[in-house]
This record gives sequence, structure tokens and C-alpha cells, in this order.
Amino acid sequence: MGLRALDKDVAIIGAGAAGLFCAGLAGARGLDVALIDHRLKVGEKIRISGGGRCNFTNLYSGPENFLSDNPHFAKSALAGYSPYDFIDLVSAHKIAFHEKKDGQLFCDESAQQIIDMLLDECDRAGVQRYFGHEITAIQKTESGFVISTNKAVIKTPRLVIATGGLSIPKIGATGFGYQIAEQFGLPMIAPRAGLVPLTFTDQMKQLCGGLSGLSVSASIGNKAARFAEGLLFTHRGLSGPSVLQISSYWAEGTPLSVNMAPSNNMDAYLRDEKKQAPRQELSTALAKILPKRLAQALCELHQIEGRLADLSDKKLSAMAGFIQDWQVRPSGTEGYRTAEVTLGGVDTKALSSQDMQVKSVPGLYFIGEVVDVTGHLGGHNFQWAWASAQAAAKSF
Ligand code: FDA
Repeated sequence: MGLRALDKDVAIIGAGAAGLFCAGLAGARGLDVALIDHRLKVGEKIRISGGGRCNFTNLYSGPENFLSDNPHFAKSALAGYSPYDFIDLVSAHKIAFHEKKDGQLFCDESAQQIIDMLLDECDRAGVQRYFGHEITAIQKTESGFVISTNKAVIKTPRLVIATGGLSIPKIGATGFGYQIAEQFGLPMIAPRAGLVPLTFTDQMKQLCGGLSGLSVSASIGNKAARFAEGLLFTHRGLSGPSVLQISSYWAEGTPLSVNMAPSNNMDAYLRDEKKQAPRQELSTALAKILPKRLAQALCELHQIEGRLADLSDKKLSAMAGFIQDWQVRPSGTEGYRTAEVTLGGVDTKALSSQDMQVKSVPGLYFIGEVVDVTGHLGGHNFQWAWASAQAAAKSF
């Protein structure tokens, strides 16, 4: 015998940051809300975010902190729900937080507090949980949608897809949202891993492996963007905030330019050192600016070694160039296994920027990371989850 269909005002698939928040807001408007997730444990990305402390927003979050095929799309939702609106909610729940740097706000204690806050808002608003439900079909009817799971059938005029991107499959990420987009014939921007460490196969791999664990305050960039937030050498390549940031702007096969000493003019510095202390080894002179291990490794890699007096100005300039405009060519990224976000997703052309509703399918909404809006590192991705969820919920 078939399951009796449950009638709901709103069904939200995906109980991550965007889905949990949207469900609480919709419930608070007096709507009967079903929140569905295939996992029993929800909000897992919030739990592991910000090193366990959740960088839940950024004071300075604005459209310029987001990548999208249409950079204007996010403006309306972001303007409609500011970081201060979310701070009010966090404060009302008495969650202590601090600014780490550059407007990045973290919980003092634990990311679990944000999950508990969102679940509490859902409970207060009477949101019905359908966790641990595998969705088997979504059908469009004249009056809305029928969602079939392995344990329930839900009928609703409003269906919100908040299933996120492909990053970190081991905690429940799937391409479900993209499949639904395909089912309804919506355009997609090809998904790819973002905010992800870069890997190398050439001599850089060996260099990085040798320096693994070392971090420097380098900047890294290309024609599209440059970030100066620190770089970390790893066994397989490069990581650290600058590298994660630029990875979102990097296309396979293209080079990146690394500046290991962004606050120095290395050419002038080396010429001056040569005048002041000509008997000094090049690696010693470099080690006054760079970590010693890195200074030595660079001399070996570029085979420019010896006392400054014995090195031509041309060679010193070449070394300065390697340090300040080092062209590296990543072979790839660490992929979705470690990526913090998925770039691309449902093409914003298909959606209304006012309420995230699909223009060609009234009642169907996409919010959060499943949409082709991806934030920089530093709390912007959660701010998009909150803002896009609010844009949808206020229109119900
Ligand atoms: P999210 O991924 O949170 O939720 C999707 C939900 O859908 C999950 O509960 C999943 O189980 C469910 N789902 C998936 N497939 C389904 C299916 N087939 N059926 C039913 N349910 C399904 N951002 C930030 O601003 N500050 C930070 O500190 C960090 N830190 C960070 C660390 C790490 C390690 C990662 C991986 C990511 C971050 N992020 C971040 C990014 C941030 O976590 C991310 O952008 C948001 O969680 C996206 O919210 P969504 O609700 O869109 O998706």
C-alpha cells in the first residue's frame, strides 16, 4: 500500500546552513514546513567549518567577495540580509564570538552552537524534520510538487533545493541539486572545486615536499585576482589562505605568479647587500627576508649560489625575479575531497535575484551553495547561505 501524502506549505531539501535557516524563517511566518535531509546528522559542514569554530559571517561581506557568472546577481539578497542581521540572531542566542581578522567572525566556543541555534529556531517555529530520508522522486503537478522519499510522500506548492555543492562527499555532499536542475531543464555553470589546495607534478612538487609545513607571508595571483594572506608548503603542493583564495580564480593549465616577499624590492635589496657585505653568501642575504629553509631551497632550485661579490647583477636580478614574480604552474587541485566550496552550479540566469525562485518553474527555489554564487574565504559563503535563504523565505 502506498504512503499517504502529507500536505505542507513548504518543503526544503537539504538541512545545511541555507536549508536550516530558511526552514526556521518560513516556520516563523506561520507556514507548515518540512525539512528533508538524507543524513540523520545535519549541518555537518557548519560543524567542521572554521576549524570547529565556524567563521559564520564577515563584517565586510559584499558583492565584491563573490564569484559568479553574473556578479550582480547576489547584490539584492546580500543587501536584504546583512552580516549584522545574523549577528543579532547569534547574540539573541547568547553565543559568544570574536573577530579573528579582517571582519571574520568566529564562535568563541564551538561551531555546534550555530547548528544548535538553527535547529532551535526550527523547533520553535514548528518545522517538521524528515532526516535520514532518501529522496526517490520529485514530480511536478499542477498545484506544486510531490516529493517521494523512502519513508514519506510530501505534497507542497513550494519546494526549496538547498543541497549544497560537491565538496566533502564523505559528510554527505551530493550532486542532487544539479540533478534537479537538469530535471527541470535549467542551465548550469560547470561545477569545480574552489578554496582548495593546489598540487604540482613538476620540480615544484619536490620543492614543496622539502619545505612541507613552512608558511610564508607570500602573495599569489594571476590576471583576475591577487591575494596576500599567507602561503603554506605541503607534501603535494601549496595551500594556506592566499592559495585557497586564488584557487577559485585558477583555470587548469594556466600559471600563477607568487611573490615571496611582497613588502620588499628584492632587486634593490640584493644590490644594496652586495655593496654593504659583498662576502656574504646569497642564501644568507635572502634569509634576512625569507625563512632560512626557503632561502636555501631557492638558491639550489635556481642554481644561483655563492658569495654576493661573485654573482653578477644580472644573476641577482634573476633571483629577485624568481622571488617576486615566480611563475608556477599547478597540475591540479586536491579536488572535492578537501575543497571548502564548489564553484559554478545552477546558472543564476534561471533564477530571480529577488527571491531565488526559478523563473520558468514557479514555486521551485534554489538557495545556498548549489547556486552559481561562491564566496571568498572568510565567512562569505555562510553569509550567502543566510542571505539567499532569507530572500526566498520572505517571499513565501
Ligand atoms: P551545505 O553543504 O551546508 O548543506 C547541504 C545539505 O544538503 C547537507 O545537510 C546534505 O546532507 C544535504 N544533502 C545533500 N545531498 C542530498 C540529497 N541527495 N538528499 C537530501 N539531502 C541532501 N564557509 C564560511 O563562510 N565560513 C567557514 O568557516 C567555512 N568553513 C568551511 C570549512 C570546510 C572544511 C568546508 C567544507 C566548508 C566551509 N565553508 C565555510 C563553506 C560552507 O560550509 C558552505 O558554503 C555552506 O555550508 C553551504 O551551505 P548550504 O546549505 O548551501 O550547503
